[in-house]
Amino acid sequence: MIGIPRRTIHMYPGEVSDLLSTALKEPSEHRALVSAFEDAFTRHAGDGLAVPVGAGRLGLRLIFESLNIGAGDSVVVPAFTDQSVPNAVRRVGAEPVFVDVERETYNIDPKALEAILDLDRDRPIRAVIATHIFGAPCDLNAISALCAARNITVLEDCAHAIDSRSQGRRCGLVGEAAIFSFVVTKAVNTFGGGMVLTRKKHIADYVREATRQLPQPKKSALGRRIIVGWLLHQFTRPAVFGNVGLPIMNGLKSAGGDAISSYNKFVRPGTQNAHVDTAFSPIQAAAGLTQLRMLGSTQSRRTRAATQIIASLPPHVRAQGTLTGDQHAWYFLVATTENPDAVVSALSEHRIDVGRYPMRNVAALEDPTNGPKDFPNAQWVYEHSIQIPIHPTLSADHIGRVCRAFSRI
Ligand SMILES: Cc1ncc(COP(=O)(O)O)c(C=O)c1O
Repeated sequence: MIGIPRRTIHMYPGEVSDLLSTALKEPSEHRALVSAFEDAFTRHAGDGLAVPVGAGRLGLRLIFESLNIGAGDSVVVPAFTDQSVPNAVRRVGAEPVFVDVERETYNIDPKALEAILDLDRDRPIRAVIATHIFGAPCDLNAISALCAARNITVLEDCAHAIDSRSQGRRCGLVGEAAIFSFVVTKAVNTFGGGMVLTRKKHIADYVREATRQLPQPKKSALGRRIIVGWLLHQFTRPAVFGNVGLPIMNGLKSAGGDAISSYNKFVRPGTQNAHVDTAFSPIQAAAGLTQLRMLGSTQSRRTRAATQIIASLPPHVRAQGTLTGDQHAWYFLVATTENPDAVVSALSEHRIDVGRYPMRNVAALEDPTNGPKDFPNAQWVYEHSIQIPIHPTLSADHIGRVCRAFSRI
């Protein structure tokens, strides 16, 4: 029977041969490709200056540098996020200060933020990273008001939010600057890579100049990421996944192993740019141009799947909340429930792969003693969340199967 994986790697038909022929083009055509991708991204955003970078986390570091944020400063980071974010803060010598999130939206809790901003500290807070986790916009109005009153910069983390809107405004253009991520699992996949978006010319100029000084990614490293991405793309096709992926994952589970840690250990390093201090290559731009053109249709498929599946969830499985008037980008559909393992195992009876731990309480990873109790909501969401498949390769039939499986538990 066909299996439904929790996620797929987005690639379009013929992409590998497109990328190979791009690799053989002349240098002048290569330069034009990167500019074309930049222009396409700016058109998608509707405004602002877009600068492609080797990874979202590199973009974050360069934004900090452009604002002179460094040693002696602090930056507020949500506790429920990717480890690369506090690491980017540390790379410029600043200190990450964690803030708890809300249990409903999994985004920064404005009340917790206010308490943190008003504490006396040796290292002044210079910026707040406003993350739109899984594509749900955070409360930008509340965060911006708190920061404006204290002369603190709001930076948006749009790694998951390429199509999100906060109160009608495109996420990425509300704060001073934003980063986007194009790592293989993202809605736009350029096999690593990211974008800085800002309306501020001095930030864009700084990031552009700094990126110019960086080397191109090595062809061998980029080639390896494309091959691993392509293998994952094949492996997560429902027909293949049902016969190969699911049995492997079930085997790992019954042997006491865990699919996510095995993936993180053996596969993830092959999909990411380990040396992120590189420029954005023309080959990545070629992939990004076509993927961006397809974004409208892939996003409407994600939205349709999320809407239908949410309507079928039983009352004890609560989907991530979106603020009234906001538009979710549905990078992931995440829900919380008191007994996530039971839900995962009920769905696996229907050969549907529901994930656990789609994001961690980073504060607890860094400080296992205090992190869980100091950031109780981030810890609660971490422990109770599940990730439900909504990727654009799901057919109406697959979505129907997920809905029926949920309505039966
Ligand atoms: C919330 C969040 N922010 C930032 C990043 C960093 O992006 P990148 O992997 O492109 O450096 C990630 C990575 O996926 C992420 O999940």
